[in-house]
Amino acid sequence: MATWVFACNTADFRASFLFRHKRKEYALFRLVDGIYCTDNVCSHEYSPLAEGMVVGADVYCPKHGSRFDIRTGAVKDYPATRPVKTFPVRVEDNGDISIQVK
Ligand code: FES
Repeated sequence: MATWVFACNTADFRASFLFRHKRKEYALFRLVDGIYCTDNVCSHEYSPLAEGMVVGADVYCPKHGSRFDIRTGAVKDYPATRPVKTFPVRVEDNGDISIQVK
């Protein structure tokens, strides 16, 4: 059964937002077509993607510059070789954002 967890409201951030739940970190990103969620931790080493630079639908890891597709988690530039996990996002009419953690 899917587990949805409230993360924040759309009014709480402009471009990206770090959300913690049960000692796991998630990064929320606002793109032109909606809100997306990835694992906050880069797949290369520990670095918070929520602090990365967003260009189009990609985020650049702030530590070594790997580029990830925010919508799919796919790696688009090295040194990372493994994708980051992505999570379904639900936005209610009042702007409340939930993510599906399982
Ligand atoms: S920690 Fe992200 S690219 Fe190295």
